[in-house]
Amino acid sequence: MKKKRSIVLFIAQSLDGYIATKDESLEWLMKIEGEGDNGFSEFYETVDTVIMGKKTYDWLMKQDIQEFPYKDKECYVFTSSVVENTENVKFVNDDVTHFIHNLQAKDGKKIWIVGGGELLHSFIQEKLVDEFIITVAPTIIGNGISLFREGDYHLELSLKRVRNFNQFVELHYKKRR
Ligand SMILES: NC(=O)c1ccc[n+]([C@@H]2O[C@H](COP(=O)([O-])OP(=O)(O)OC[C@H]3O[C@@H](n4cnc5c(N)ncnc54)[C@H](OP(=O)(O)O)[C@@H]3O)[C@@H](O)[C@H]2O)c1
Repeated sequence: MKKKRSIVLFIAQSLDGYIATKDESLEWLMKIEGEGDNGFSEFYETVDTVIMGKKTYDWLMKQDIQEFPYKDKECYVFTSSVVENTENVKFVNDDVTHFIHNLQAKDGKKIWIVGGGELLHSFIQEKLVDEFIITVAPTIIGNGISLFREGDYHLELSLKRVRNFNQFVELHYKKRR
């Protein structure tokens, strides 16, 4: 299979590696003083496809949003249940590698894996993530939902860039070939 585009994780975590508290709060993250939109729109321009796990989707739909934030992209939500597609989202219950390889065989921009940790775990085990852009908040929350889960994997990355948005540090890594 010829891979025509890459999979990028773009996510924020606490200094101790959590993406949300156990009760799914992101309050600790929202109150950090960043700069502009902390590189989000610049990154968002580079993708045309958005992928997330069902818990991240459910969290998003519980927020006070006027409209679906990724309306202008192709959006897929992984779930083991059968859920009817919406105007904005296609629900996927497929082998992750098979699904991603099909997407990557098509021309287009990059593919964003939004999270959360559980879906990312399947992607990491299959070595599907080409780039990791992790924005670190200057907060230690002690426990919560981990970005990385324990498993039998080993990935070697190279550091592409480090920059800061006021109190946030953005780490950008690429998978080594
Ligand atoms: N800090 C950030 O930037 C950031 C970004 C994203 C998310 N989050 C937070 O992360 C939390 C959710 O993360 P999470 O790790 O608990 O859950 P998650 O990865 O978002 O979703 C887990 C669910 O996705 C489905 N899933 C995962 N892997 C699958 C696979 N290989 N095949 C089919 N379905 C699969 C399953 O849904 P079913 O149970 O329906 O089968 C599973 O229960 C939320 O609180 C969200 O706010 C934070």
